[in-house]
Amino acid sequence: MKKVTVCSPGTSANLGPGYDVFGLALSKPYDIITVTKTDEDGTITISVEGEKCEEIPTEVDKNTAGVVAKKMLEDFNISDGIHIHINKGIKPGSGLGSSSASCAGVSVAIDELFNLNLSKLKLVEYASLGEAVAAGAPHADNVAPAIFGGFTMVTNYDPLEVLHIPLEFEILVALPNIQVNTKKAREILPKKVDMKDMVNNVGKACGMVHALYTDDLELFGKYMMEDRVVEPCRATLIDGYEEVKEKVMDWVYGITISGSGPAIISLPKLEHVLDVKKAFKETWDCPVYHTKMGPGAYVLKSE
Ligand code: HSE
Repeated sequence: MKKVTVCSPGTSANLGPGYDVFGLALSKPYDIITVTKTDEDGTITISVEGEKCEEIPTEVDKNTAGVVAKKMLEDFNISDGIHIHINKGIKPGSGLGSSSASCAGVSVAIDELFNLNLSKLKLVEYASLGEAVAAGAPHADNVAPAIFGGFTMVTNYDPLEVLHIPLEFEILVALPNIQVNTKKAREILPKKVDMKDMVNNVGKACGMVHALYTDDLELFGKYMMEDRVVEPCRATLIDGYEEVKEKVMDWVYGITISGSGPAIISLPKLEHVLDVKKAFKETWDCPVYHTKMGPGAYVLKSE
């Protein structure tokens, strides 16, 4: 095998009370990652095209996917050179797991190209190394769904443990044209949490998992909106968010900030998809994705 192409999904992390724990994979947008063996032993090269590609560094140690690839090749004593081509369908800095998609995609591609047969959990572990470069901390709540698909919970970080619920429901995502830097959006969060808020968030997060198992979208969406720790801080970074939330409240099961934002994720009631879209467009004049939950990164082609 000389070349592997992988489709790697955008993801939405946190979903309200599940900060750094909950995540889900979206069927679109996605990145396409191609890893090709080259004749330059021991060398990794990177090229990027697509959404805001000029902002993405192509030096191996600065590129999130490059960091993942380098570590995998080192760990498995692979001396072949590789070229990584990233076609970005997910806008960087959007809150839709753009860097995670590239990290997850490259880990799946290398696994296939060199026949490593790694478990999904091990692939998440490798892919999350890239997150440390992007966000300043190796959080795995985007890479876990990018690898497993569906809904995931990172229940432990050291060692990494991930639970997975394969699911599918309709999602509307708005992508306001506002800059939010993930590192900064993490720095503004409280260092200590009030006990009452902790009890609230744990209760709501448990309720959301119960809702998934009982197919109760209404309960899932209601609790998704009741994060008392992270969303109140970050809502200040997204102009218009509180107004939109108010406006669409009766048309959605739930709405919240996707990851560190600025993307907004909502679960629309099907008869109100157009109303919600219109409200997003009127406020932000921005792209809106009508998408659903999707699979984790998968091989499109091996040659
Ligand atoms: N859980 C991370 C955060 C996701 O909210 O900072 C970043 O996309």
